[in-house]
Amino acid sequence: MPEIKSILVTGANGQLGRSLRGIESLYPQFQFIFTDREELDLCELDNVTDYFKQNRFDLIINCAAYTAVDKAEKEPELADAINHRAVKQLAEIAKSQNTILIHISTDYVFDGTNYKPYIETDLTNPQSIYGISKLAGERAMQAISPKGMIIRTSWVYSEFGSNFVKTMLKLGQEREQLNVIFDQVGSPTYAKDLAQKIMRIIEANSESWCIAEGDNQKELPIYHFSNEGVCSWYDFVKVIFEMTGINCIVNPIETKDYATPATRPHYSLLNKAKIKHDYDLVIPYWKDSLKECLLALQENQIR
Ligand SMILES: NC(=O)c1ccc[n+]([C@@H]2O[C@H](COP(=O)([O-])OP(=O)(O)OC[C@H]3O[C@@H](n4cnc5c(N)ncnc54)[C@H](OP(=O)(O)O)[C@@H]3O)[C@@H](O)[C@H]2O)c1
Repeated sequence: MPEIKSILVTGANGQLGRSLRGIESLYPQFQFIFTDREELDLCELDNVTDYFKQNRFDLIINCAAYTAVDKAEKEPELADAINHRAVKQLAEIAKSQNTILIHISTDYVFDGTNYKPYIETDLTNPQSIYGISKLAGERAMQAISPKGMIIRTSWVYSEFGSNFVKTMLKLGQEREQLNVIFDQVGSPTYAKDLAQKIMRIIEANSESWCIAEGDNQKELPIYHFSNEGVCSWYDFVKVIFEMTGINCIVNPIETKDYATPATRPHYSLLNKAKIKHDYDLVIPYWKDSLKECLLALQENQIR
């Protein structure tokens, strides 16, 4: 492969997919192809095979995923189909077509019993169907080992689709009080920051990925990425309301007092030292990125 020209973004209507679309014009050297579920349903294995027989890409960013953490408890087959089997198929295609695959995974592959931020080689032990399906996707990709990488991220929000920030903004305007969990701690990730860093990594790796042929590559790397800093869901909501002037009382509650179908890790902080070192990344503090997202949401409302 002489150089990376074409980039396929799957799951293009999701938060990360739309964030990549938002910065596409900053990278005129690449031809981006964005496919949503309608154009390329990753659960339709035969159609996927046909699609890649007809279309070839230098690099795939797999943003498609089953992300409904609680619903997954009742739909394990579907979660596995998208988060595991589809990833396996993409990895096989990428390997056979010498295409680079960047796949996104989650902090929910960990059980949350750590006392310090998780590094990439820490023991995984997912506690939910979603986490189990995402870990199975990681393992399948690692076993096939196409060129590329897995990036685990956490608590993703953006101005697109439905997410925690937008839900809290809505509830904060409707209600006088909200109960929010304070004993689950992590780092929010603004999808735009992740999208920008993915593009930075692609630019930085372009040459080495193109030179590495087939089996000569090293083991498939895993990286951790989120914004800088730490907070609980409670702190997150307090800051969202402070920044937007919403006058809703926020009560801190414990996980045990807010029953959900899926078990979530109490502590899911990701250590980002490896990605920062290897790609010389400066990652924004979570409150700075939150402010940027809230401003973007405000501008969208005004327009
Ligand atoms: N959201 C989080 O808090 C979070 C946290 C940690 C890690 N992650 C990971 O980060 C990545 C990006 O997440 P996100 O927040 O951008 O997810 P998202 O907003 O839920 O987007 C996922 C996209 O995948 C698409 N999709 C679902 N099934 C598909 C299928 N069978 N074929 C093709 N597309 C399909 C969805 O299509 P529809 O629009 O048609 O449903 C959706 O547009 C995922 O790998 C996720 O696991 C997310």
